[in-house]
Amino acid sequence: MSGLDDRRILLVVTAGIAAYKCGYLVREMLRRGADVDVVMTPRAENFVGRATFEGLTGRRLEEDIWDRPMAHLELGRDVDAVVVAPATADFLARMAGGRADDLASTAVLAADGPVLVAPAMNTRMWENAATRDNVAVLEDRGVTVVGPDSGELAEGEVGPGRMAEPDTIVAETERMAFRAACGGGPLDGEKVVVTAGPTRAHVDPVRFLTNRSSGRMGYGVAAAAWRRGAEVSLVTGPGTVDPPHGPAVTEVETAEEMLDALHGELAGSRALVMSAAVSDFRPSAPETGKIKRGGRESLTLELEPGPDLLAETRQAREEGGIFTVGFALETDDARENARRKLEEKGLQIVALNEISEETGLETTTNRLTLLEDDGTTEEWPLLSKDEAGERLVRRIEERLEE
Ligand code: CTP
Repeated sequence: MSGLDDRRILLVVTAGIAAYKCGYLVREMLRRGADVDVVMTPRAENFVGRATFEGLTGRRLEEDIWDRPMAHLELGRDVDAVVVAPATADFLARMAGGRADDLASTAVLAADGPVLVAPAMNTRMWENAATRDNVAVLEDRGVTVVGPDSGELAEGEVGPGRMAEPDTIVAETERMAFRAACGGGPLDGEKVVVTAGPTRAHVDPVRFLTNRSSGRMGYGVAAAAWRRGAEVSLVTGPGTVDPPHGPAVTEVETAEEMLDALHGELAGSRALVMSAAVSDFRPSAPETGKIKRGGRESLTLELEPGPDLLAETRQAREEGGIFTVGFALETDDARENARRKLEEKGLQIVALNEISEETGLETTTNRLTLLEDDGTTEEWPLLSKDEAGERLVRRIEERLEE
């Protein structure tokens, strides 16, 4: 179960130096289940070899419009996405002008799927009024423009012009292809709020209490919801991995900050997934100065309960009809406790986490058991947190459609 399963993609590689990154781009698309055809403009071969793409896709690349009758029409027929990466200033101009003077431009013109371009060029070319106009024309026609990023360019200048990172292009392609293939699922255009990561409770200016949460599980959920067309707001504590491309990210540190952010985000939301590992206790009187060792024999910290975010948001969730998924981290009487949390916290689904070397906190995989308010319980196998996130979002979609 992956973001590009059974999707047909036409990748057009044009003559920019970033073409060397397209080997990785193709590999990622294939790894996510896509069926990829590659077309190169003749001059792209100055930057990357045809054999690279033939080796990765296992297909011979068509070279010229005259080699095989109808290749120019077949390449883009019934595709879920056309991706032009890198897209040079010249190729964007040719697209804007509707040109069909080689295999690549003709295949793009004849394609019937949505089109994404990842421009890459020198900053002055990107900022030139001609390019600006061409990009505006393409956007107007519904083309998705991803990037360019700013930074150091191959020629040593600094500014916008770097091709967006391949992972970003893949994420944008997944979202675009999902919309094209499914006409937008039940989450399309809906707001989904996801919390992730640990929170911190301050002890003094240099110390805090926290837990081992990495953020991965919530990031997997947020990425999947965004891929499937939702407007995702990701409220995250300081995890150990980077948040995914797509969702709007609000970084918070404490449980109180997370609660404030939630209050701001929940209005108008369709679903909330509380994957954050929120600290339950905080020091009753955090010190304003650093606690010194002094000649102390021992140190006792007094803790008090912090806010329960699901309880504090219950009224807003119920009034707004927000479908809510909580997580339960249990070591004893797991199912009994999880079912109790489902009822007491007013949830529609609770995802029970086991704690072991391969599941729970700090891991890249998880084994979840889903308990739902319709009385059902389902055990899932060990999955990567990305796969578990995808599966959870699909389950939320099914429930929203019931
Ligand atoms: N949660 C919350 N606010 C807290 C603690 C947890 O909203 N202060 C949420 C978590 O994000 C999760 C769910 O409540 O979705 C269950 O979290 P968990 O830590 O398993 O349970 P607790 O409510 O903390 O209960 P206990 O410590 O008794 O297991």
